[in-house]
Amino acid sequence: MTDKNRVIIFDTTLRDGEQSPGFSMNLKEKLDMAHQLARLGVDVIEAGFPITSQGDFDSVSRIAAEVRGPVICGLARAIEKDIVRAGEALLEAPRKRIHTFIATSKVHVEKKLRMTREQVIQSAHDAVKLARTFTDDVEFSCEDAGRTDWDYIVDVLTAAIEAGATTLNIPDTVGYTVPEQFGGCIAHVIRKTPGIDKCIVSVHCHNDLGFATANSLAGVKNGARQIECTINGIGERAGNTSLEEAVMMLKVRKDYFGVETGIKTEEIYRTSRLLSRITGVKVQPNKAIVGGNAFAHEAGIHQDGIMKERTTYEIMRPEDVGWTGESMVMGKHSGRAALAKRLASLGFALGKEEIERAYERFKDLCDKKKDIYDEDLIAIVEDEVLQTKPMWSLEDMEVDARMKKQPMVRVRVRCADGQIREATSTEGDGQVDGLYRALESIVNHEVRLLDYAIESVTSGKDALGRVKVRMKVDGREVRGIGVATDVIVASAQAWLSALNRYLLMSELEKQNGTTRPEQI
Ligand code: KIV
Ligand code: ZN
Repeated sequence: MTDKNRVIIFDTTLRDGEQSPGFSMNLKEKLDMAHQLARLGVDVIEAGFPITSQGDFDSVSRIAAEVRGPVICGLARAIEKDIVRAGEALLEAPRKRIHTFIATSKVHVEKKLRMTREQVIQSAHDAVKLARTFTDDVEFSCEDAGRTDWDYIVDVLTAAIEAGATTLNIPDTVGYTVPEQFGGCIAHVIRKTPGIDKCIVSVHCHNDLGFATANSLAGVKNGARQIECTINGIGERAGNTSLEEAVMMLKVRKDYFGVETGIKTEEIYRTSRLLSRITGVKVQPNKAIVGGNAFAHEAGIHQDGIMKERTTYEIMRPEDVGWTGESMVMGKHSGRAALAKRLASLGFALGKEEIERAYERFKDLCDKKKDIYDEDLIAIVEDEVLQTKPMWSLEDMEVDARMKKQPMVRVRVRCADGQIREATSTEGDGQVDGLYRALESIVNHEVRLLDYAIESVTSGKDALGRVKVRMKVDGREVRGIGVATDVIVASAQAWLSALNRYLLMSELEKQNGTTRPEQI
């Protein structure tokens, strides 16, 4: 395939995705995600929007310094201070890109920017010129291009090209267009903009009406050669084009599109699950490519067809996206080495001490549960091994629950200073509420539970239960996860893990003297 037929995959999970509510990540989580995106083979990682907060600046610079393979990109408005900050954050990246943007639709130009159309063209030009002093790889976007008249897009892009832009992005910022129209816009821009043949034309579509992936692919059909997308389709409001959908469409329907990407599709499933684990947001079961049901054939007639000939109901193989299903991996006779090997194949690079802790937990679990699945192992590692050094931990608990009576809960926890504290609650709307009331009475922090979700890690009545909580501690939002065969124990662990996370973040801030990372 020639370069003309290669579609660049620009991943913005850590920028457009991370800025949406419920998807914020800390520095370590962003780094883990960026390393996995590099393994997945994305061409560009948009790592953040450095001007927006110290936290964003720090994560872009760490990713720039550590992650190798993809181009690392930072976002900047068409404003001098934004571009300089992005340039500084990207300093250590061997391959870097500055992505600068300004809105071009009538409503944005007149009501939001309060500028004339000529001023917008001048700003676009100046921004690109300044960005070029930091790197030769500069992307320019016309924000809200989906609602901009096409000839004006041509004028703005002409100025950006003249100033040295190398990638020209056409965003459908509010998810307003339909595929035929969006494809028409891309074709028009390519036909009319002088010098555009030396640049890559990119698409960035939002999913407000459910057309993000379709619009992006219509763009490709009409000559775009970069798709901006996110894992699991996360992003502002209804999200962005989902990477897995766009990539698999181009792969499965190569006969129609005639292009290819550099994505290692067998890494898709793992990347999707990593994002879910980090953010605590599960993928809907019927989501294309990565949903739990994407390869499940329930109806008898389908199962019969599949058994006779796979292609009767399957247009792609589950293994092409790295979906292995619930594979039973080991039992109580498996040793440390086998466990370490399996965890490595699941993408966990653990040290000796971490393996040892995982093995202890694994043995405990074998006493309670007959079949151990990959998902169980992942749960063990994320719960026990990858948790930051626990400051507060659960020592013991007792719950007495009877129908129509308030539960009695007694908890014993080990505090950060090693002391044991105990509390009892005889109030509460159910066991979890009673438990959380007891825990709250022990800590000197103001805690408010925002979200509580419980799920079974694998199937069967002996399955591990995973509890995820989102709570506000002293006004700051944190998440926690707890995993145990008993869901009430998992609930206590989730609560304590969120508290530990809050304490760790506060401690790190004190040490580094950094400000609290804001959400954009
Ligand atoms: O949706 C949008 O317009 C954006 C730009 C910053 C590219 O995210
Ligand atoms: Zn966007």
